[in-house]
Amino acid sequence: MIPTTSAMPIGAIIVSARPADDYLAHFALTEADLLRGPVLDCPGGASDFAVRVRALGGRAVSVDPAYAAHPEHFAERLRADFERVRAWTATRFDRFPPGPDGRWHRLPSWEHAAETFMADYRRDRDEATGHYVSALLPTLPFADHTFALATSGFLLFTYPDHFDQAFHLEALRELLRVADEVRVHPLNDSARNPYPHIAPLLEALRADGVHVDTLAVESPTDRSDTHTLRLRRPAIPAG
Ligand SMILES: C[S@@+](CC[C@H](N)C(=O)[O-])C[C@H]1O[C@@H](n2cnc3c(N)ncnc32)[C@H](O)[C@@H]1O
Repeated sequence: MIPTTSAMPIGAIIVSARPADDYLAHFALTEADLLRGPVLDCPGGASDFAVRVRALGGRAVSVDPAYAAHPEHFAERLRADFERVRAWTATRFDRFPPGPDGRWHRLPSWEHAAETFMADYRRDRDEATGHYVSALLPTLPFADHTFALATSGFLLFTYPDHFDQAFHLEALRELLRVADEVRVHPLNDSARNPYPHIAPLLEALRADGVHVDTLAVESPTDRSDTHTLRLRRPAIPAG
């Protein structure tokens, strides 16, 4: 069967800029969760989530291969990717309703998040804050147990045509190596197809001793994204 437009996934991986408030909602996080210890956001894209964590008094590092780019080149790519998001959502107004300007009604909040991100990203280049690290899953340049929490949104499960099952398992194990708890959202691709290999993947993680559960969430971006995976590493026995 030939898929209809609305059943087609978005294609090449985009750099998106989900606002911090959306992160709190779709990862089911409270502000207290963000202050338990250092937070890793991977992939960070152009989200202002890590800026929010730091504004609250927490510590956060964002990882994304796109951070290899100079801010001006990053901004250029972001403009092109936002145009793709605008065009893609415009053919799916049943899922992404338009606002007063005729574009998807959430785009202005993404643009605002991207502006906050870009200001912080430029500052990082000037002051070497270390807040933005260019790296690629499944290999992260951090020691074991560096972070209390890792958030991973809209890469794993979202692009099953780009990454195979082995990659997914390696990436989740790597996130669990560096963080005590990992939250991944959503569990479906951009065309709402549930990730087909979730059962064997979770089985393998359970066999590693990982505590696995799924949280029902409401996503401000897309009502179809209804679940978040929560993975917790087993506690290390004392002594
Ligand atoms: C759709 S964005 C998600 C960004 C952010 N989490 C959000 O929700 O707005 C996907 C990001 O994954 C990054 N990416 C692509 N391949 C990656 C990899 N192997 N490891 C980590 N990030 C990757 C891309 O550069 C892009 O910024």
